[in-house]
Amino acid sequence: MNDDRTQPILEAVDLHKTYRMGSVDVPVLRGSSISVSAGEWVAILGSSGSGKSTLLHLLGGLDTPDPGRGDIRFDGRPIAKLRRGDRNRYRNRDVGFVFQFYHLLPELTVLENTLLPGLVGSRIRADRDRARTLLGSFGLDHRLNHRPRELSGGERQRVAIARALLNRPRILLADEPTGNLDQETGREILELLKREHESGLTIVMVTHDRQIADLTDRTVVLNRGQVE
Ligand SMILES: Nc1ncnc2c1ncn2[C@@H]1O[C@H](COP(=O)(O)OP(=O)(O)OP(=O)(O)O)[C@@H](O)[C@H]1O
Ligand SMILES: [Mg+2]
Repeated sequence: MNDDRTQPILEAVDLHKTYRMGSVDVPVLRGSSISVSAGEWVAILGSSGSGKSTLLHLLGGLDTPDPGRGDIRFDGRPIAKLRRGDRNRYRNRDVGFVFQFYHLLPELTVLENTLLPGLVGSRIRADRDRARTLLGSFGLDHRLNHRPRELSGGERQRVAIARALLNRPRILLADEPTGNLDQETGREILELLKREHESGLTIVMVTHDRQIADLTDRTVVLNRGQVE
């Protein structure tokens, strides 16, 4: 562990990512690099289709760069070189991920959705307490046994954030956490993220909205597959 603020907690170096569509190659990332210090709140700003989600998925270990074309380092260690167990640990515990469209499971209740990242562990009682505390602090105490379809967009997003925080990750990766919400509800979500940030959480947040990016510590722009 290294909480030295001068050493990046998360670093991506020269990432290339190309999607193959039939016989056509679609290059999305063309040498993107980004460095995030512990405790920082960084916004990745870019227009639709610029590759923001792609970059965030690579940072979270949910997808990989083109073979041999780029490195992602957590605490100085390349995640591609981690053994399988450590890599799963990285995805499940070191990082919390908030997806662009909530990705809540419709059959599960709010509480069960929040507990999902805990299923791989065995601390059921502790996880339930943690989930209840998180959901309570996000104003969802009265919603624990509801299904996602019974919730508003803002409530769903709060569940998605609670789920991402269940395992007390060191970094939260959030993909357009206000993208599907009206302005007022979006503000509430940003307030919530600000509170987490102030209590020490490192956050990397994707947005296409300059005003929202301006609320963070630092903004980088993704343009033509590179971070400017
Ligand atoms: N799995 C995939 N297969 C093929 N092409 C893909 C895939 N995922 C993304 N793309 C393409 O890669 C480009 C970047 O997509 P990405 O979702 O990363 O952009 P984005 O910046 O997050 O966009 P938005 O703001 O609309 O969410 C787009 O042109 C998209 O069509
Ligand atoms: Mg996206």
